Amino acid sequence: MTEKLLHAATAEAAKVIDGRAFSGRMVDEIAIHVSELAHSEGIVPGLAVVLVGEDPASQVYVRNKGIKCRAAGMRSFEHKLSAECSQAELLTLIDRLNSDPTVHGILVQLPLPSHLDTEIVINSIEPAKDVDGFHAVNVGRLATGQAALVPCTPLGCLMLLRAQLGSLAGLEAVIVGRSNIVGKPMAQLLLRENCTATIVHSQSRDIASICRRADILVAAVGRPEMISGDWIKPGAVVIDVGINRLEREGVAKLVGDVVFDQAKSIASAITPVPGGVGPMTIACLLANTLTACRRIHGLPDSRAFAAR
Ligand code: GUN
Repeated sequence: MTEKLLHAATAEAAKVIDGRAFSGRMVDEIAIHVSELAHSEGIVPGLAVVLVGEDPASQVYVRNKGIKCRAAGMRSFEHKLSAECSQAELLTLIDRLNSDPTVHGILVQLPLPSHLDTEIVINSIEPAKDVDGFHAVNVGRLATGQAALVPCTPLGCLMLLRAQLGSLAGLEAVIVGRSNIVGKPMAQLLLRENCTATIVHSQSRDIASICRRADILVAAVGRPEMISGDWIKPGAVVIDVGINRLEREGVAKLVGDVVFDQAKSIASAITPVPGGVGPMTIACLLANTLTACRRIHGLPDSRAFAAR
């Protein structure tokens, strides 16, 4: 199936992967599993989101997480701390959430104000409740092939890739960007799918020619339209994680890391910005919360949602 899709591609415009529709179906399916869990075991998954400060973008993300959580039938707990809160206050809250049996997932919205130590904060979350998959224990488990909670954005990308291509085994995957949130876990996930996975970054030489080898190109650098059409192998599947706010001719616009209009006549499939990867992140957060809840209660994973 993979070969066929990759080769069929070139003559016509790429399929535009509808992340909104895909994530909507996922949330509906999660809601069914949540309802079954409530009926069979009397357990309702609960997600606690912690927001420190008043960053407007973070406020929007946190509000959306709460809305989607409730829509899936889960409990949502929002904890808002002032921008001046101390590290000790934040760690005390996390301790409380770690031992609260109604909370199965804990997410501390990033970035944190600069006086707080993000590494210490993240590593104070109980790994079994770390639905962001950022705790060093989950990072290590992912890298060694053990059951982990996996970061939501790369997990969402993987789901879109599997739906598009079926088996990813043997494909050349190039990831542009080496962040802990997307680039590095994306490479680990693709390696686990038996891809040949390469990460390129700001110090890499001749990035364009490495990208041109990619059957799967994941752009996660956060630089508006850095990747032009001539960096893309004909028939490649392009996953654009970038969400960059630009002002063009006085109009605010969201663009990805890829020049969409160029890429769509070369790739076989591509995610748009907005409406591609973005909506998948929240759906995967709900999936991770369900997975965390089931594991905490000693229940097997719902296979459709757990990365492993
Ligand atoms: N800020 C931007 N992306 C994320 C994410 O995936 N998780 C958290 N906790 N904060 C973020």
